[in-house]
Amino acid sequence: MLSALLLFLLPVYADWQYRSRSDLAPPQLNITIFDHDKASTDYLFVAPFSGFPDNTLHGPRQAAPYIFSAEGDLVWSGYSIFSIWNANFQAAKFNGQDILFSFEGDHNPAYGHGHGHHTFLNNRYELVKELRAGKHKLSDKHEFHIKDEKTGLLQVYQPVPRDLSEFGASEEQQWIVNAIFQELDLETGEVLFEWASLDHVSPHESVLPINPGYAGSGYNSSDAWDYFHINSVDKDENGDYLLSARDAASVYKIDGKTGEVIWKLGGIPGETSSSFENVGGFRFGFQHHARYLWTSEDGKKQIISFFDNSAHGTEDKHGHLVKINEVSSGKVVEVNTETWEAKLLKNYQAPYGLLAKSQGSAQVLESGNVLVNWGSEGAVTEYTADGEIVFHAFLESGELADKVENYRAFKYDWHGYPTEDVAVLSEITDDGETQIYVSWNGDTETKLWKFYAVKNGSKTYIGEAKRTGFETKYKVAETHEAVYAEALDKSGRILASSEPAIAIQQVLPFKAVAAQPETLQPNFLNYFSWRQQI
Ligand SMILES: *[C@@H]1O[C@H](CO)[C@@H](O)[C@H](O)[C@H]1NC(C)=O
Ligand SMILES: *[C@@H]1O[C@H](CO)[C@@H](O)[C@H](O)[C@H]1NC(C)=O
Ligand SMILES: *[C@@H]1O[C@H](CO)[C@@H](O)[C@H](O)[C@H]1NC(C)=O
Repeated sequence: MLSALLLFLLPVYADWQYRSRSDLAPPQLNITIFDHDKASTDYLFVAPFSGFPDNTLHGPRQAAPYIFSAEGDLVWSGYSIFSIWNANFQAAKFNGQDILFSFEGDHNPAYGHGHGHHTFLNNRYELVKELRAGKHKLSDKHEFHIKDEKTGLLQVYQPVPRDLSEFGASEEQQWIVNAIFQELDLETGEVLFEWASLDHVSPHESVLPINPGYAGSGYNSSDAWDYFHINSVDKDENGDYLLSARDAASVYKIDGKTGEVIWKLGGIPGETSSSFENVGGFRFGFQHHARYLWTSEDGKKQIISFFDNSAHGTEDKHGHLVKINEVSSGKVVEVNTETWEAKLLKNYQAPYGLLAKSQGSAQVLESGNVLVNWGSEGAVTEYTADGEIVFHAFLESGELADKVENYRAFKYDWHGYPTEDVAVLSEITDDGETQIYVSWNGDTETKLWKFYAVKNGSKTYIGEAKRTGFETKYKVAETHEAVYAEALDKSGRILASSEPAIAIQQVLPFKAVAAQPETLQPNFLNYFSWRQQI
């Protein structure tokens, strides 16, 4: 009886979040650490999805790109605006305009690949463009990165047949992934530069050999041996690229003119080759999201950041096949091409023992704080530059949190001006009062809501409420059959008005509370009862 009722109640966890938008069931962040003074006030950008093969009753109920406030309140649900499977949701500038972009496409969790395109929205959440890889190739999910507001870096997993016998393959094992990246002109889609791993990096550099097949066995093109697995591309001011190659457990610097490897930072001393000696023998592996942070004037020193998974496994969480460190971390490393030493400057270690078998990102914010996203573990942590944890959130709550994953997370200052209508729900309570709920998906500017009753063609001001979050509530003592809401910004300018909403009879959430409190465990008090209204 007890478990039957719990099963019945828990899957509805995401319901009743927003009365004005009962169509939305966004993830509810479980914020476990929050230092309001030290955490960034920027918005959080994530695109969580379920790691279960079927996603019917799992969290997130609506896998999509989301913007949350620093407090964890919903700002924008991209559900159904972006569709199919999404990852790498970011804000950026394109030709001086604020845009959002996200990868949309097919997801192949067993091989950690995704095939699709990169979709741009403007700051009104309207479609601006869709960008695909050039030269008859399919863009992969892992990278899309805009440089100088003009060009885009993306990557491709291109299966190609080769004689792989020197790597221990049988005659039937002929397929290998050529890891390619392209730099495209964002206006025209023209390919400005293309680089292919098989031209420059031997499959001997892989830490996952073709057999026993942890990175594909090469029997056919969908099972191609993913010896390199690029998952990020950056470019510095000199025009040279930085690649993270997960299956080589190494970060590479690539000459932007010749495509040659300038240096390689190997993650596992003694196992991976490296241009550097890792001072103190620090190790990393299966990393993601390598970014240039700083270059010395003479170009001989560079500081880079990346997410160190330190574990390899598939996204279905079937164990850790390889483990380099006990927990995952965000790392900041200085490389010196005079002394050929690499120094670990910062190591932002995961709380809760998190070890991300796949995915992940580390973003160094302008303030110096660092946002680390724990990929397959469905959580984000923000650190001060010194490594103090000032924010931590699991990307879902309760039962729905199980196997929620998120490829990358970012924090940005963002201003959204939605073109969609303001949503209003107006309810008449049993006491004859009017309870109003208002929201405007994606809006960041409204500070005050004004409410008006509409009767016989004329409107009457009935009150106002400070915007409190995604949805703002306001109650008036009288019965009003129709109301509408007006959004005002910080200077009192009217941003939008809703359509008049015809009031409905109030329906309150069914809240299960203990029927016989004295006989139940305290934890279950909230789950049992007869109908009781909040
Ligand atoms: C490709 O190879 C894998 C591994 O041997 C196998 O499981 C799969 O069925 C093959 N697919 C096709 C289409 O032959
Ligand atoms: C939030 O996360 C903590 C730590 O894992 C967990 O103990 C707690 O139950 C979670 N709360 C909810 C509401 O999911
Ligand atoms: C509704 O408005 C019309 C035109 O202004 C007026 O003639 C009529 O008396 C009003 N009806 C009520 C019930 O107020």
